[in-house]
Amino acid sequence: MEMASLHYHILVILIFVLQLNAISTSDHHHRHHDHHRKHGLKSLHFALYQHETINKTGFIVVNGVAGPPVGQTTTPFGTLFVFEDPMTLTPNRTSKVVGVAEGTSVTSGLDGLRAISIAKITLNVKHYKGSISVVGGTHNIKPSDHPIVGGTGDFLFVQGYVTSSPVDLTGLTVVYKIEFHIYWPPYATPTDSV
Ligand SMILES: *[C@@H]1O[C@H](CO)[C@@H](O)[C@H](O)[C@H]1NC(C)=O
Ligand SMILES: *[C@@H]1O[C@H](CO)[C@@H](O)[C@H](O)[C@H]1NC(C)=O
Repeated sequence: MEMASLHYHILVILIFVLQLNAISTSDHHHRHHDHHRKHGLKSLHFALYQHETINKTGFIVVNGVAGPPVGQTTTPFGTLFVFEDPMTLTPNRTSKVVGVAEGTSVTSGLDGLRAISIAKITLNVKHYKGSISVVGGTHNIKPSDHPIVGGTGDFLFVQGYVTSSPVDLTGLTVVYKIEFHIYWPPYATPTDSV
């Protein structure tokens, strides 16, 4: 009798230990899975074209104070410029508008070629809707990278950068190619989480 009872107790303890082991194994697997996902950040890469028409979608609201005069590619130091520009799928202005860039830039180079720009870019691309905010230095005649400081909607918490490159600086409407490199940190992918 006593022997059978002891065996029963050992069996119960053994099952308990096995269960503990199973729980800790699955916990380990779960952590490993999350850890692995951090190394494959979700990202999105595409390019749009920004069209800026002087005195129509972009205006000088404060005149600058020094340096070269207002020209095709220069503005005097201190010039405050404000814009609301459409962004299209191709360089052709008649192509589909899928974004709007609203922002401001202040001429910060005494050569009249450089500015500090901030912009909110509202997007409706590839089933993603929302906005991203960018800030950085812009060169009027060379490509420049602008860090993405955050976003809203489907772009909540995103990071990355946009590269702005002049495409056509002649005429009343200037065109820039804007390349987007958007990354979602692990905590910002609700649609991916289990
Ligand atoms: C834009 O408007 C300003 C102020 O009215 C004017 O001085 C300037 O010549 C205009 N620029 C062009 C390209 O029309
Ligand atoms: C832009 O697109 C329109 C409409 O599709 C077309 O008529 C025009 O030729 C295009 N312009 C250029 C420069 O490709």
